[in-house]
Amino acid sequence: MIRKGVILAGGKGTRLDPLTRAISKQLLPVYDKPMIFYPLSLLMRCGIREVLLVTSPEWVGSYRSVLGDGSQWGVEIDFIVQEQATGVPDGLVLAREWLAGEGCCFILGDNLFFGNLDPVREAVALTTGARIFAMPTREPERFGIVELDAEDKVLSVVEKPTAPCSDLAIPGVYFFDKYAPDHAAQLTPSARGETEICDLMQAYLRQEKLTCRRLGRGFVWLDGGTPADLLEAGNFVATMEKRMGYELACLEEIAWRAGWISDEQLENLILNQPSATRADYLRTLM
Ligand code: DAU
Repeated sequence: MIRKGVILAGGKGTRLDPLTRAISKQLLPVYDKPMIFYPLSLLMRCGIREVLLVTSPEWVGSYRSVLGDGSQWGVEIDFIVQEQATGVPDGLVLAREWLAGEGCCFILGDNLFFGNLDPVREAVALTTGARIFAMPTREPERFGIVELDAEDKVLSVVEKPTAPCSDLAIPGVYFFDKYAPDHAAQLTPSARGETEICDLMQAYLRQEKLTCRRLGRGFVWLDGGTPADLLEAGNFVATMEKRMGYELACLEEIAWRAGWISDEQLENLILNQPSATRADYLRTLM
């Protein structure tokens, strides 16, 4: 059973320069929320209440002021600094002590997920091995790519292949058992000078402990890696919220619906909510 979540929110955000000169990439707005709220909302919707945020030294203070200790949303958020952007799986090496021998859901701070989360929620029951997900893409050279056989058994995983053997991208949400920090510590940097999350998956694949679930059409996966992605994600959120009248990644709402904060706590959040529009929205929930 996975109870802990690690969000990776470091990196240099170079593809978003100059936006990322004065603000961390994962704090940039995706319509009406900082980007980081979206991966955090996924963890919360999976019932995960213990969260570790990994970020770079210059931004850790900003994350603390935006997120606090999480208690306002009925979760516990801790922070750890990654001095250099040495690779995605290094986040797990840093998280080793915090994980204290438990597995985790590992999620990239610039990945946004909406819609039917059932396949992701199911992975919370994982006790051994690693679970990844697959989603068709038209740009396989941009992502980690998984090749599956007819029974959806994993045949291979490759990071940003130049000659892709499949069009199934691996979104930035992964479930790992307690051995992930050990495997991650063994990895060596790739040609681009970073350790790669696909190499960690390969360590599990070699032991026949890597499973994959396809994410269906009811699932939406976006990221905020480039200016175009960021705009697209913001437009998506704005469209959904306008059409349907409910907010996406509303952490107060998720916490209240899950019973992690009481009516009284929600009322207090409403009273202290600086935006009248948000206060009105939260009031309609009750
Ligand atoms: O978006 C999904 C893709 O994310 C996966 O399909 C790929 O397999 C995975 O490698 C990753 O590819 P990217 O090229 O998008 O990774 P990027 O370098 O942008 O890093 C992903 C996030 O992790 C981003 O929010 C920055 C953060 N990061 C990255 C590195 C290398 C860190 O916090 N520390 C790091 O050292």
